[in-house]
Amino acid sequence: MSETDFRRTLVTAALPYANGQIHLGHLAGAYLPADFYVRYLRLRGWPVLFICGTDEYGVPITLTAEKLGISPKELVDRNHQSIEDSFAGLGIEFDNFSQTSREVHRETAAAFFRDLHAHDRLVQKTTQQFYSPSQQRFLADRYIEGTCPKCQSEGARGDQCENCGSSLDPTELIDPHDALKGEPLELRETTHWYIPLGEWQERLEAFIASHPEWKENVKQYCRSWFNDGLGDRAVTRDIAWGVPVPLDDHEGKVLYVWFDAPVGYISATREWAIDQEDPEAWRVWWQDETTRLIHFIGKDNVVFHTLMFPAMLMAHSEPFVLPDNVPANEFLNLEGQKLSTSRGFAVWLPDYLERFEPDPLRYVIARGLPETRDMNFTWEGFQARNDNELGNNFGNLINRVFTFVHKYFDGLVPEWTEDQLEDIDHAVLAEVAELRERWASHMDRFEVKAAMECAFAAGQAGNRYFDESAPFRTRKTDMVRCGVSLAVALQVLRQVCLMLAPICPFGMTRLWSWLGMETPLFFGGWEEGLRDIEAGRPLGQPEILYPRLEPELIEAEVARLRELLEPGDG
Ligand code: 2FM
Ligand code: ZN
Repeated sequence: MSETDFRRTLVTAALPYANGQIHLGHLAGAYLPADFYVRYLRLRGWPVLFICGTDEYGVPITLTAEKLGISPKELVDRNHQSIEDSFAGLGIEFDNFSQTSREVHRETAAAFFRDLHAHDRLVQKTTQQFYSPSQQRFLADRYIEGTCPKCQSEGARGDQCENCGSSLDPTELIDPHDALKGEPLELRETTHWYIPLGEWQERLEAFIASHPEWKENVKQYCRSWFNDGLGDRAVTRDIAWGVPVPLDDHEGKVLYVWFDAPVGYISATREWAIDQEDPEAWRVWWQDETTRLIHFIGKDNVVFHTLMFPAMLMAHSEPFVLPDNVPANEFLNLEGQKLSTSRGFAVWLPDYLERFEPDPLRYVIARGLPETRDMNFTWEGFQARNDNELGNNFGNLINRVFTFVHKYFDGLVPEWTEDQLEDIDHAVLAEVAELRERWASHMDRFEVKAAMECAFAAGQAGNRYFDESAPFRTRKTDMVRCGVSLAVALQVLRQVCLMLAPICPFGMTRLWSWLGMETPLFFGGWEEGLRDIEAGRPLGQPEILYPRLEPELIEAEVARLRELLEPGDG
């Protein structure tokens, strides 16, 4: 094992907006891949810290709160709690799940801004922006609507025309007005702080070039931004709900959410350190150059994590580690259609958890992750993978082996010795060991789908071995041989348990205990799992881990989605 295997790893998952619930698209994009990776590291016994929290500032949150007649803080606290609960229900276990509206974050983000400001890393510019006289406030770009100057279609937004796809500046719109209220707007001067990304372009290009191992899609996004040339990015806004700009004479101005949110990763680490009663302990995770920082995100967040936040970290006067990898995923579609939160066309995590167990969703998403291209989730596919793969491949192997050991060997690992092993035994052990090594190297490289192919093949190898070594026959003719093949099958099952553990932690934790293992699975279970199995070890009494799904349950889910697409027709 090389030294680098033990390097400490700080894993972050994109801070979800506290403006609604988590759906399948979020899970496939960032949260499950992050949890799979973190669990993989925990399984190996390597030091890892898993950080997340809710992203709680910005205009959309104030609008939702207004609609509900509550304060933004009440809204985000409520959503924070339910998001945290549903992540926990799916087995996503952060070391800290914070909130950007907490004091620790307001201080950290303000200090970060002050540091850049004090070291002349920010520039100030005065521009004309749209102002609503009736509401006495400036409007964010996407709440400004008008006619597209390029294709003349009405209803183009201040940041983009959905009709022709052009990205726009609100001042280019013809007849600009308030998108929500339809009221006219006027241009007023306003002064803001910007980070001049152009000044960092060379260093950013060198930084990205130093990571040829990154995913092709991520590097491709960066290349195209570099080709366009990086410009100044505003880091402050004229709204009320945010971290106040920590300078005199900046009444009513707050930090832009995309400035404060990534600093939220640091604040959440600080909060974790404070909770550990070691307030400076955050530094080793952010400022010791041997730490690996990994950001899990969806593709819409790439620019912020590969360019904007790294530039902020480079610009800070203290040394910060830069991301070692940003394994961004593409999008997940649902029943062949794009998810739409405005139409509610999504599968929401709290709804899923009311009706199903967590492992099948984790498994099915792992098998169909949008790692390199958009992928499609269907309920029919969900059922097929649950029944055929979790049930028939893995579940069946577990049942057959345990049933035999309980029935004919009193639930103890049968006697076996090295010299009793036959070719067929050596062959399956070698095949599974090779699959396990390939599995681990895929997991190291964030290639979960390829890793799962190995895990699945190991389950198949186990079943094939069971058929061919035929303990159901040898139990009548040769009990010694029968015992040896069951011991080998148990050894295979241990490896399968390790390979499935990060993906299906609920079921595999139970299987681990039925196998009589002593090390907690996610505190370095790997080593114990690889040791030769000891004869005589007592086994637990297993239950059916992955029952088949009733067709009616699946039909009801499909009908629910159809109703969202064609309300009233069903
Ligand atoms: O896209 C999103 O859901 C953002 N709230 C992600 C923020 S990631 C980080 F920068 F905080
Ligand atoms: Zn247009």
